Amino acid sequence: MKKMEDYVRTIPDFPEPGIMFRDVTSVLQDPDGLKLAIDSMIKLLDGVEFDVIAGAESRGFIFGAPIAYAMGKSFVLIRKKGKLPCETVSAKYDLEYGSAEIEMHKDSVKPGQKVVLVDDLIATGGTIEAAAKLVEELGGEVVKIIFLMELAGLKGRDKLAKYDVASVITYD
Ligand code: PRP
Ligand code: ADE
Repeated sequence: MKKMEDYVRTIPDFPEPGIMFRDVTSVLQDPDGLKLAIDSMIKLLDGVEFDVIAGAESRGFIFGAPIAYAMGKSFVLIRKKGKLPCETVSAKYDLEYGSAEIEMHKDSVKPGQKVVLVDDLIATGGTIEAAAKLVEELGGEVVKIIFLMELAGLKGRDKLAKYDVASVITYD
């Protein structure tokens, strides 16, 4: 039987020399890979009590929404700047290659709600650290952060030391 990591294709030097790109499309285009990914991420939430799943654009949407659906929770969007139509909070951050800014609608998380953050991958941790700050700015509590893939060598977890973080696959 294939393991989760068997579904991930790795492309060296994309999008820049030196980057080992962990490609999620090879997971998604195989029905067994997609199912194993969602089921494995749901297992990371065993025993976690929460109200809302928040997913980071764009690959975090792919995994966050089906997990929310399967667990009977709501799903809210953490989007790249300029995409959300209502009042937002925003945060800037650095990435493995480049920098970006994300936003959330002010009404997407209510004060006191328990929030799970979902993304496909953690590299430097910049995206999810910024996302966690936004949830907290809105009065939410980040109770768990889950990823399909973790690039441990980039030490993204160091930025998330105060959170409960879990990943399905870890690369050195
Ligand atoms: C990728 C990935 C994570 C983030 C991880 O998204 O899906 O969201 O980078 O990097 P970090 O841990 O260094 O912040 P990207 O910003 O490339 O956007 P995309 O999902 O739209 O491709
Ligand atoms: N996002 C940031 N770094 C990445 C990598 N190495 N592979 C896939 N997605 C990424």
